[in-house]
Amino acid sequence: MQIFLDTADVKEIRELASLGLVDGITTNPSLVAKEGRPFPEIVDEIIRIVDGPISLEVVSTDAQGMLAEARDLAKIHANVVVKIPLIGEGMKAVRQLALEGIKTNVTLCFSPSQALLAAKAGAGYISPFVGRLDDISHVGMDLVRQIVTIYRNYGYPTKVLAASLRNPLHFVEAAMAGAHVCTMPPAVLRQLLKHPLTDIGLEKFLADWRKVPKVS
Ligand code: G3P
Repeated sequence: MQIFLDTADVKEIRELASLGLVDGITTNPSLVAKEGRPFPEIVDEIIRIVDGPISLEVVSTDAQGMLAEARDLAKIHANVVVKIPLIGEGMKAVRQLALEGIKTNVTLCFSPSQALLAAKAGAGYISPFVGRLDDISHVGMDLVRQIVTIYRNYGYPTKVLAASLRNPLHFVEAAMAGAHVCTMPPAVLRQLLKHPLTDIGLEKFLADWRKVPKVS
């Protein structure tokens, strides 16, 4: 299971990457806008911190525009994965980018049929948005399970990147479903580490250790 951080916050990325648990980064236009800094500056810093796949999203909605943006983004660094929205024009772009050897992450996936078509087009990753489906009273994780099954049935090499994860249970369920990657906000990665019994146990061990007589 690979862990990606879903953020454009360089300070958070630096801090959490130091744990050695971050395999890659995903961003989207909203996350970049939140930072209030120029996109190239942010990308340059992220690439220096994380040596793994960095998803950067196009903002064109026609295939030609997406291809032009994707080629420019791919030139930045070999780790760049171009995020393409799951629309018809996006599928055209993904097919062409696969032929050119440019890696893609197909985003905004909300149904298993969309995911199958993205795999047929040659997507490197598919990003089912779990939390956003939960938000409208659908079980988002069912989508991850369906995609994993469909891709296994046909041997598609497209990796399942569980996205829009909002809590540790999402992470565990995505792992049980067989997602290749989970991307999550920094706060969720911190939550994954925490357990009150770990803290209580450590406190007790350290308190007891202080009672051990010193060598005189
Ligand atoms: O980056 C894609 C996805 O993870 C966004 O998550 O929380 O905005 O639904 P969210």
